[in-house]
Amino acid sequence: MRSSEVINPGWAKPEGLACSHCAAVTRHIRTLIHDAGGLLPFDQYMDAALYAPGLGYYASGARKFGEGGDFVTAPEIGPLFGRCLAHEVGPALEVIAAPYLLEFGAGSGALAQSLIEALSAEGQLPSRYCILEISPDLRERQRQRLEPLAKRYGLTIEWLEQMPSEPLRGVILANEVVDAFAVTRFRVIEGRPWRAGVCIEGDGFAWDWIDDLAPDSVAAKIVRRHELAEGHTSEVCPRADAWIDTLGHCLEQGLAIVIDYGFPAGEYYLPERSQGTLRCHYQHRAHNDPLIFAGIQDITCHVDFSALAEAGRAAGFDLLGYTSQEAYLLALGLLDLATPQPDDDEKVMLARAAEVKQLVLPSQMGEAFKVMALGKGVGEALSGFKLRDRRLSL
Ligand SMILES: C[S@@+](CC[C@H](N)C(=O)[O-])C[C@H]1O[C@@H](n2cnc3c(N)ncnc32)[C@H](O)[C@@H]1O
Repeated sequence: MRSSEVINPGWAKPEGLACSHCAAVTRHIRTLIHDAGGLLPFDQYMDAALYAPGLGYYASGARKFGEGGDFVTAPEIGPLFGRCLAHEVGPALEVIAAPYLLEFGAGSGALAQSLIEALSAEGQLPSRYCILEISPDLRERQRQRLEPLAKRYGLTIEWLEQMPSEPLRGVILANEVVDAFAVTRFRVIEGRPWRAGVCIEGDGFAWDWIDDLAPDSVAAKIVRRHELAEGHTSEVCPRADAWIDTLGHCLEQGLAIVIDYGFPAGEYYLPERSQGTLRCHYQHRAHNDPLIFAGIQDITCHVDFSALAEAGRAAGFDLLGYTSQEAYLLALGLLDLATPQPDDDEKVMLARAAEVKQLVLPSQMGEAFKVMALGKGVGEALSGFKLRDRRLSL
C-alpha cells in the first residue's frame, strides 16, 4: 500500500550508499529551488525526487519492491492477484480482434508474469503485451524477467516510450501507478487554495505557500465544492486527469482498469483528512514527510476516483464499474484459485492463505484499494463488479 508499517519520520537515518545518493538528490533539488527563485512548486519537487534522470527514486537503482525494498504491492505478494485479473482481461481480449494488452508502470514485472502465465493457460494471450514504464532502471528489470517468458509463450512484449500513435484496441492496466503521479498540494488560506512550494531551510527543505491558483483551477473548484475550512491541506492531481484524457484519445475499443488506493471525492475531502493523503515509504515503514530522504523513499498520494471518473467521461469512456479490491478479487474467483490442491505441501498452503488475507482483508489491502473500469465498445458486463458495484458513490 504500498503495504508498510506507520512510523514517526524521526525513526531512521540513511547510511552508506543511500546516504550519499540522498545527498546528491538533495543537491539537485536545491539547485532547482535556486533556479526557480527560492521556491519550487511541490509537484516539481515530487517529480524530481521520484523521476529526475539517474537520481529520482524510480529513476535510479534502489530496490523498491519486496524484501530489501521499501514496500510491497499486490502482484509482489504472489501470483493470485494476476490470476484473478486474467479472469477479467482474458474474456475482454477475446471480444476484440488482434488486441493489445498495455500495462502502465509495470514495476518489477510481477503482474505481467502472473498475467501472461494465466492467460496462456486459458489460450487467451493478447497479440502484443506492451509496457509503458517511465523508469529506465525498472524497464531493464522487466526485460530480464519477461523476455524468457515471451520466448516460452511465443509472445511479443514491447516497451513503449509513449502511447502508440495508432488507435489502440485492447486492455490497459495500471496497478498502483496513478498514486505515483506528482500532485499539486494546497492549503486553504484566507478562504482560497494556496499552492505548496518547497524552499531551502538549513541543510534540508521546508514548506511555503504560493497564492497563484486561479479561481477556475481544479483546487479552487474543490475548495468551493467541498467547503474546505481554513487551514485544510490536501492535494489534486491534474496529471491523472490528463493521463485519462490521453487514454481516451488512444483507446478506440477496450477497457482501462485502474487499481489503486483512494476514495470518492466526498470521502477524500472530509474534514478528518484535513492534512491530506501524502504518504512516504522507506524500508517498509510509512510516514508523512516528503521533504526528507529525497530520492531514497517513495512518495505517494491517494487517488480521487471521482475526479478520474469525471475525466474518463469527458474523454469518451463509459464508467463500467468501481468497487473495493476485496469485492473485485472475490468476484473474479480468488477463493477458488486459492483452494488447496491434493499435492500442495503445507508451506504452499500457508503462503497462499497469507496471500489471500493480505489481498482482501479490510485491515490490509481489501478496502483501501479500489478498482475502476472505464470502457469503450465492450458492453457493460464485467465479472469483477458483480458482487458489489459502487459506481454511484463517485
Ligand atoms: C508503485 S510502482 C507499481 C508497480 C507495479 N504496477 C506493481 O503493482 O507492482 C509504480 C510504477 O509506476 C511507474 N510510473 C510512475 N509514473 C509513470 C508514468 N507516468 N508512466 C509510466 N509509468 C510510471 C513507476 O516507475 C513504477 O514502475
